[in-house]
Amino acid sequence: MKTRVAVLISGAGSNMAALIDAGQAPDSGYEVALVLSNVEGAGGLAIAAAKGVATVAIPHKPFGKDREAHERVVDEALRAAGVEVVALAGYMRVLTPWLVGGWRERMLNIHPSLLPLYPGLDTHARAIAAGDAEAGCTVHLVTEGVDEGPILGQARVPIVQGDTPEALAERVKTAEHTLYPHVLSAFCKALGRD
Ligand code: GAR
Repeated sequence: MKTRVAVLISGAGSNMAALIDAGQAPDSGYEVALVLSNVEGAGGLAIAAAKGVATVAIPHKPFGKDREAHERVVDEALRAAGVEVVALAGYMRVLTPWLVGGWRERMLNIHPSLLPLYPGLDTHARAIAAGDAEAGCTVHLVTEGVDEGPILGQARVPIVQGDTPEALAERVKTAEHTLYPHVLSAFCKALGRD
């Protein structure tokens, strides 16, 4: 039986699309059962629906500063869909310890840098400004500290002469689309053996 995964997005959802497609392979360890966004009309929701995956939008704005109240509704949707593992994919919310604790060792994130280098935003501009020879992406378990959890996998790409943050972001994203499904599938298969 494949592990039921929810993918949480805020935007375009290119990683989410890659996760759905790879999850449909017979030998994948997971299937995407739900795509959830905190942004109504997020581009990725239509893409997921077109691929036949259930979608839900739970906007955070009506909850104001009460992050946990928003998360309780998100959590309810995840549990109702029978989700076992959560994959954050461009979900641009800082999570509270309440949600992180409820999904401990069951929630993964992808971050566009070679962590522990460059947690947070503007990772590509920072890597170029530092004169780094390479950049990349990291899949890690989610813990209370932002972009801090145990690393499950990384992929590296070169930084080339005259690179722009936009060009580098595209190169990194291409690597993300292979890395994330690979790591998530292996993670879910390992869970099944516990
Ligand atoms: C990805 O590059 C992902 O690594 C990044 O947002 C992008 C989402 O793109 N995540 C973060 O910056 C989280 N801190 P996508 O919506 O096309 O998958």
